[in-house]
Amino acid sequence: MRIEGKEYRTIWFENNVVKIIDQTKLPHRFIIKELKTVNDAINAIKVMEVRGAPLIGGTAAYGLALAAQENSNSEFIKKSAEELIKSRPTAINLKWAVDRMIKKLSGINSDQILDVALNEAKEICDEDEKFCENIGINGLKIIEEIYSKKKDTVNILTHCNAGWLATINWGTATSPIYHANKKGIPVHVWVDETRPRNQGANLTSYELNEEEIPNTIIADNTGGILMQRGEVDLCIVGTDRTLSNGDVCNKIGTYLKALAAHDNSVPFYVALPSSTIDWDIKDAKDIPIEERSSEELSHVEGVDENNEIKKILIYPSKSKAMNLAFDVTPAKYVTGLITEKGISKASTESLKKLFNK
Ligand code: MRU
Repeated sequence: MRIEGKEYRTIWFENNVVKIIDQTKLPHRFIIKELKTVNDAINAIKVMEVRGAPLIGGTAAYGLALAAQENSNSEFIKKSAEELIKSRPTAINLKWAVDRMIKKLSGINSDQILDVALNEAKEICDEDEKFCENIGINGLKIIEEIYSKKKDTVNILTHCNAGWLATINWGTATSPIYHANKKGIPVHVWVDETRPRNQGANLTSYELNEEEIPNTIIADNTGGILMQRGEVDLCIVGTDRTLSNGDVCNKIGTYLKALAAHDNSVPFYVALPSSTIDWDIKDAKDIPIEERSSEELSHVEGVDENNEIKKILIYPSKSKAMNLAFDVTPAKYVTGLITEKGISKASTESLKKLFNK
């Protein structure tokens, strides 16, 4: 998608390095960063220069290609794979991508391993782009249906950033919105700020602005009253891990939005590529929920009047804070799962049927 009118993907390989957009600097600085080693890739995932489930997967895949470039020894690749999987716990795409790479690389001669790794990493990214585009085509039908009844702007609420910056391109939750916009359907997006890291405000609103899609940032607590007032036609969110029973793990606060949507009969959809489905874990309690530094709560970052990036403390310095990054929305609150293959009910039966499992 576009930044200042120029088309980008979030990750690509060029001149023996992996290039990423450093998302910790957005929206105030647009910086393309080079990852030269597998440790650079691990660090980029840990400090969230890249984030969002599908992009973490794509970065891990390219991380293993960087490992192969450094040292084609199978022990080094294996160790790198383990470190990559540990770099962030909740998004299943990370393990999915690493497992796929390791499977592809097993038995390959050391003189060919780099080429095979680079091809597979590109394949994983190209596939994600295609799947996200298909999610958009499938999700567009939902927006079209609302528009055909309402005949006025469709108001969509989203949480966190499940936009193109979280994927390789298109995004998951935003892809139906981009497709609706391209078709000329008037859409307006309520963007949850998404404390504490503000991915909604800093990333979703930023990317929608760049694509000239009307959007309004709201505090995370505002969605409920907007739904009561009839100002939300539809919620679409992303996910970091969806169980085969349809339980959806996503950015903290998603569950509360789903409860409010349920109480107000607002459709609540989750958009995801199949790489985000965890077919193994059966109970949501077994999903590893990332707990991040409390400094993300106690400090905020922004630009001052001289356009300098500054970080300031906003809490009493003696206060304790707790920062769980994800929650789980039970399947019963999910209207449907928008996937690359079509829209599924949030149930084992429906998902298994769609994916021939
Ligand atoms: O902590 P983040 O910024 O990586 O969290 C991202 C989200 O929660 C997204 O909603 C999710 O990864 C889906 S991205 C298409």
